[in-house]
Amino acid sequence: MVNKAELHYDGEVYELPVITGSENENALDISKLRGQSGLITLDRGFKNTGSCESSITFLNGEKGILRYRGYSIEELAEKSTFLEVSFLLIYGELPTKDELKFFVNEIATHSLVHEDVKSILDGFPSKSHPMGVLSSLVSSLTAFYPKSLDPNRSKEEIDGTIIRAIAKLPTLAAWSFKNRMRQPIMYPKNSLSYTANFIQMMFGLPTMETEVNPIISKALDKLLILHADHEQNCSTATVRIVGSSHASLYASVSSGIAALWGPLHGGANQAVIEMLEDIKDDGGDVDKYVAKAKDKSDPFRLMGFGHRVYKSFDPRATIIKKAADDVLDELGIEDPVLDIAKKLEKVALNDEYFKERGLYPNVDFYSGIIYRALGIPTDMFTVMFALGRLPGWIAQWKEMRENHEPIGRPRQVFTGSSARQYVSIENR
Ligand code: CMC
Repeated sequence: MVNKAELHYDGEVYELPVITGSENENALDISKLRGQSGLITLDRGFKNTGSCESSITFLNGEKGILRYRGYSIEELAEKSTFLEVSFLLIYGELPTKDELKFFVNEIATHSLVHEDVKSILDGFPSKSHPMGVLSSLVSSLTAFYPKSLDPNRSKEEIDGTIIRAIAKLPTLAAWSFKNRMRQPIMYPKNSLSYTANFIQMMFGLPTMETEVNPIISKALDKLLILHADHEQNCSTATVRIVGSSHASLYASVSSGIAALWGPLHGGANQAVIEMLEDIKDDGGDVDKYVAKAKDKSDPFRLMGFGHRVYKSFDPRATIIKKAADDVLDELGIEDPVLDIAKKLEKVALNDEYFKERGLYPNVDFYSGIIYRALGIPTDMFTVMFALGRLPGWIAQWKEMRENHEPIGRPRQVFTGSSARQYVSIENR
């Protein structure tokens, strides 16, 4: 195995160590390059830059492989539960029976949030997007748990901070929806499962008993597993970089939620359904929209298509497409938008433009159809993604802290003016 590369530049030769990962992926270590040669590397959008070494999630975009801690996403989605996967991601191993029991119980007993959170919530106008509300409420947890501000505290205290984050996010998410609906909030019920509890807080009303349909809570659990981690994506890289300044877990997760919100990342699930609705309302002509997506003078993109890393298929999308069919079948729902999605997928997958560029449906293409079938409103879709991604953010934040990673601080190539003299306002 070659363990170094040479860079020839300006008459000098620089040796760059080659680092090899456990799946034989190689990386050039350029950390000393600037000191030796004055050169930095430039990689807009970090398309080919590794920011860390990580043992959490393995992803091979060419082969469509995704594994959490070595376990395939297909197997976890079929056999595991979201809280078990959360434990696996955060602590590195599948829990024993006792560990899982303790973890689940701890989460259930910490799901209540401080009553004062309600007054923060009241301050948001009802039109507020729930992602903005959620990000703010997560950040506000630092005020209720001031000890969480110090990420250097004991392992037990950090574990407490982690448990609170997982326990309280469904409550905060459901409350952000209740605020939007101007309905009274529902308190968590410790006896329910993680997803059933979330559903009763979303759809329940104090005036009636809420029965949670097990088909819905199971489908939701699977969706959360599929979203639980995805190595160094935009929001996770944000969480790590914010945490690298020794900001608290809650502050780091709050920024992760903000990064996830955009339509090129987690916000795509909302954008997909809006796009499919538009196509339906416009007569269902999918060819017209495929042509628009290919037209470089038109900013329109096929939402839910393409991925920075997957260039053959997104394994999560394959599982979700099947789950969408199953859930709609089980619930006896016919959704014309699902037919449009399937037509659109077929046309795009046979089109040279999409084939050449390796553009396939991603995780967000079919997830919105399931959320809709479960009764979740469109602007809550990205909140669902955030609920799923939370254990991944936590695991990555924890790994970054335990590896004593330095503060994240990229360089730049400056393209502005050279030094010039200030001109007073009278002379301008
Ligand atoms: N529709 C039409 N053309 C596309 C699309 C699309 N959805 N995605 C990429 N392209 C074209 C793009 O115009 C470019 O063409 P050319 O080479 O001629 O300039 C080429 O494909 C490469 O695209 P890129 O924007 O350079 O690729 P990227 O890696 O920077 O972007 C992406 C990845 C996911 C942001 C992009 O594919 C996209 O905008 N997709 C739609 C939004 C979406 O579904 N996002 C969810 C991603 S999965 C959930 C998650 O975030 O984890």
